[in-house]
Amino acid sequence: MKKNILQTGNNTEIKKTQTEAPIISALERFVSNPTKQFHIPAHTKGNCLLDEFKSLINRHGAFLDCTDEFNNIGTLNPATGAIKKAQDLMAEAMNAKRTFFLLNGSSIGNFAIAMTCTKPNSKVLIGRNCHRSALTGLIMTGANPVWLTPEKLDDWSIWGGISPEFIEKKLTLNPDTSLVWITSPTYEGIISDIEKIADICHKKGVILAVDEAHGALWNFSENLPKSALELGADVVVHSMHKTAGSFSQSSMLSLAKNSLVNEHLMEHSLKLLHTTSPSVMLLASLDAARAYLMSEEGQNKINKAIQTTVYIKSKLRNIHNVEILEENQWLKLEPTRVYFKIRGLKGRKIENLLKLNYNIEIEASTDYGVLALCNIGTREEDVSCLINAIREIANEKYEDLSYLENCKFMPLLEPQIIMSPQKAFYHEQEIIPTQEAVGRICAELIAECPPGIFILAPGELIKKEHLPYLENYKTLSVLK
Ligand SMILES: Cc1ncc(COP(=O)(O)O)c(C=O)c1O
Repeated sequence: MKKNILQTGNNTEIKKTQTEAPIISALERFVSNPTKQFHIPAHTKGNCLLDEFKSLINRHGAFLDCTDEFNNIGTLNPATGAIKKAQDLMAEAMNAKRTFFLLNGSSIGNFAIAMTCTKPNSKVLIGRNCHRSALTGLIMTGANPVWLTPEKLDDWSIWGGISPEFIEKKLTLNPDTSLVWITSPTYEGIISDIEKIADICHKKGVILAVDEAHGALWNFSENLPKSALELGADVVVHSMHKTAGSFSQSSMLSLAKNSLVNEHLMEHSLKLLHTTSPSVMLLASLDAARAYLMSEEGQNKINKAIQTTVYIKSKLRNIHNVEILEENQWLKLEPTRVYFKIRGLKGRKIENLLKLNYNIEIEASTDYGVLALCNIGTREEDVSCLINAIREIANEKYEDLSYLENCKFMPLLEPQIIMSPQKAFYHEQEIIPTQEAVGRICAELIAECPPGIFILAPGELIKKEHLPYLENYKTLSVLK
């Protein structure tokens, strides 16, 4: 007899907690208390979904969770039927040779890039601000990262872009590199010069992969920056679910028209990595997001998101004590995000005050700054609430007091690599108190989400400078 089901006389009693559904209860509370949303997912509680898709969900809900191969819905791996048709339409919209729909987010796209474009011991020049999924890919394949430290914006506690000159220098020092892999835009919206970087890579016959997870919307508007796909990158991932209106976990990987990446190998990698039970609901949301963004309404929403960003920035500029990250000759920014700080307050404090006092949720906070997204689904009435809330907070005398608000966010440190991530990952390990870990070699990948950029990778020396960033970790896995 299972211990949660008790037999008492003729009655079967089920432990009360086993009939509760905590996620359902949490969602019920969430639905009855809608917040003002300045974060992903961009459809913003269904505010901008293709009408036909919305109506299907409203009328048929769970009915849409069907298996893929019936009724010519098709299969994902290999793509057939309606799924193939939708994927091909997406490739056309992206101006790509081939686009693959992804489940499990852009993370699986990064695994597939590692699997297809690297080998055990091959050398990869990779931005230190990459998402943890890129490093996970390298742990899987056994390739060796040569870290590209991006520019540091110390006053903003964030990583900046990676310059073409720096990449050229690193490629000269590492002529056996097989892949250059960078993140652009960064989480906070900083854009690197992909056109020049692609040129440098291709002159040396090196593949360029760009993690454009946060630029998924760009391919859908002339008024947004050009996608890395157009600028010469070979392979690009896009988190459609973050800023382009599809459902969480639905993403894409695209190969450029002249890509150096072997298309069939990529298809094969994705087949090995993907679930064999794809969610048709998620695939449908990719299809719907494309059709929506290509419609007149979708185009208007994109323009509105850009204008809203410009408007919020213009208002914040006039608030005493508020500073926003501004574009200039050397700094190109993603046009639908606002990264700002309020003098005297930590980013986390600002995030907490917005949430607790104003029911406003922003995308993320750092040591000093706060990131707000202006989405295609952002509601006009929420914009003035955000601006008024920031004005009030900036004019109050709040102080950073709580432990959590003082906990540090992202070290902008040069890593000291002792061994490859894969070797360290599979090495014998032990768990020790974090305070005793200085001088030891890290065995785990330590990354907080968001932004999913890691603090320490397997195989790296733990230094005392790391400790302020590890306050949430009582213990660490280190090599024996
Ligand atoms: C730059 C970057 N790449 C990849 C990912 C992973 O994307 P997903 O959450 O779609 O798996 C993220 C997630 O935040 C990211 O910020």
